[in-house]
Amino acid sequence: MHNTPVTVLGLGRMGAALARAFVGAGHPTTVFNRTPREIAGATTAATAGEAVAASPLVVVCVRDHDASRELLAPAAAAMSGRTLADLTSGTPEHARESAAWASEHGADFLAGAIMAVPQGIGRPGATILYDGPDAVFDAHRPTLDVLGRSVHVGVRPGLAGLHDLALLGIMWSAFGGYLHALALMGTAGVRAADFTPMATQWLEVVTGFLPEIGGQVDAADYATDVSSLDINAAGLELLAEASRRQGVGDAVPEPLRALFARAVAEGRGDESVAALVEVIRG
Ligand SMILES: NC(=O)c1ccc[n+]([C@@H]2O[C@H](COP(=O)([O-])OP(=O)(O)OC[C@H]3O[C@@H](n4cnc5c(N)ncnc54)[C@H](OP(=O)(O)O)[C@@H]3O)[C@@H](O)[C@H]2O)c1
Repeated sequence: MHNTPVTVLGLGRMGAALARAFVGAGHPTTVFNRTPREIAGATTAATAGEAVAASPLVVVCVRDHDASRELLAPAAAAMSGRTLADLTSGTPEHARESAAWASEHGADFLAGAIMAVPQGIGRPGATILYDGPDAVFDAHRPTLDVLGRSVHVGVRPGLAGLHDLALLGIMWSAFGGYLHALALMGTAGVRAADFTPMATQWLEVVTGFLPEIGGQVDAADYATDVSSLDINAAGLELLAEASRRQGVGDAVPEPLRALFARAVAEGRGDESVAALVEVIRG
């Protein structure tokens, strides 16, 4: 499998990084982009169909699901017998649609979610999550490993995208919390450079809580002798009020304040923070 020919469709920031990694690892690489673009060491195809026909493994990575559909549609006739790995970000529904499209045209399908920036592709630390049939993943893994650590999260189409969005949701919440903290600390003249070491150390403490919270969610057992939900709800009231009084607004803490308040109103005040998952589930 080592020098399997690979086709990369889409040569934006990420697609170009993927193509360069394949070229760098010695895979005969064919590329195609809507707006003509070349990658040193790769063969440029004149059409998407010609690009697809060049390789048993076709990797597509474009802006979004609609762009992927648009780019692949004219190449449908060439898909049969190949594997399509779509690394375009999308919802689980998008992955299901793409899997059905690939199957309709006689192709195997993997959906991938790239947990790295283009500069990280091909380097240690880059992780790409995949869903799709075990045998298809196993067959192409040696080639896909060129891009980063390949992690197969399951068979069902959409699982990789769901992991991606869930993980990014954690990241965006952390960014929101951090930037709110910087705005709040800024009202006291504390600079980000001085506050950030404390924030990163605190995030390590927070990370340490996750296995216990997750365990409680799995067991649906929210008993606690550590920190009750109502104490945290009261803390969030303080954060929202202090934010308003310091003049930075409560846009970041307010949705969480409201969720915690709802959990308390539903009689979960004595339970652990993990019980919030029941309110989120609705
Ligand atoms: N960049 C990152 O850090 C990062 C990280 C993880 C995941 N991703 C995901 O990787 C995917 C690509 O991101 P990117 O950073 O490479 O974006 P980008 O630099 O903006 O490139 C977008 C690509 O999509 C193509 N495209 C857009 N609309 C199209 C259409 N209607 N038909 C055909 N091709 C079309 C563009 O072709 P043209 O050149 O012709 O416009 C270009 O190749 C996204 O789904 C993104 O979420 C990116």
